[in-house]
Amino acid sequence: MPAKVLSGKLLSARIKDELKHEVAQLESKGITPGLAVVIVGNDPASRVYVNSKKKACEEIGIYSEEYALPEDATQMDLVNLITSLNQKKDIDGILVQLPLPKHINEEEVINTINPKKDVDAFHPVNVGKIMIGNYDFLPCTPAGVMELIKESGIEIAGKECVVVGRSNIVGKPQSMLLLHEHGTVTICHSRTKNIKEVCRKADILVAAVGKANFITADMVKPGAVVIDVGINRLEDTKKLVGDVDFDNVAEIAGAITPVPGGVGPMTIAMLMRNTVKAVQL
Ligand code: GUN
Repeated sequence: MPAKVLSGKLLSARIKDELKHEVAQLESKGITPGLAVVIVGNDPASRVYVNSKKKACEEIGIYSEEYALPEDATQMDLVNLITSLNQKKDIDGILVQLPLPKHINEEEVINTINPKKDVDAFHPVNVGKIMIGNYDFLPCTPAGVMELIKESGIEIAGKECVVVGRSNIVGKPQSMLLLHEHGTVTICHSRTKNIKEVCRKADILVAAVGKANFITADMVKPGAVVIDVGINRLEDTKKLVGDVDFDNVAEIAGAITPVPGGVGPMTIAMLMRNTVKAVQL
């Protein structure tokens, strides 16, 4: 039987609807959540993501401001901007779209964000809080993945969870969130030996590699929940695909997320959730 397709599009719409009601209640008390979105340079993918984030704010009733800096913006320009946003009363959340141009020190930029406005949960204070399990914000993509796994109906406690990829944005925090839910977690990366065998043990497999069709059907245990975090554009057809060979893996998996319409919209819904939460901090 082919896998159940876990629609992030539907689930994110439901979550955004709930948030819309929460924002309306805040509005009746004279409070409007505000998000500042910072983008540097002309990366087309970043532009698409930033536009989606702004659109979601509009849908929900969150006030948003965009700060688009040119490709040659300096470290000082960016640090000064964030410092002023930290102090801005109508801004509850600050999001700096990554990646930043190569001449910018990304770490210093992230460290400048007030942790209480860090709706991406990238600041070391928030990363540390996630590690301990006592956090204000969950990182958006891993939090969205957790919601999708819950949607699959599978219990995480005691399950073999394999995360492929060890980035600070996804792989590492994802592993920690699965651990908090009592999964037995393995992280695979470019130096992992026997990656196929390791993946085949997974009851829950999360792919965050950034390579089209990296996860093939022979790497998936029958009935597994397969979550595809990848967003890759194919060179030839320009088609958007994930890290998972969807058509073949869907024949074997118990549940699977599509690309597009899977994790992507969930990331945005979780950003909206964090922005509403930021008001309370
Ligand atoms: N670039 C890729 N993913 C993300 C994300 O979740 N947040 C930000 N700010 N930049 C990203």
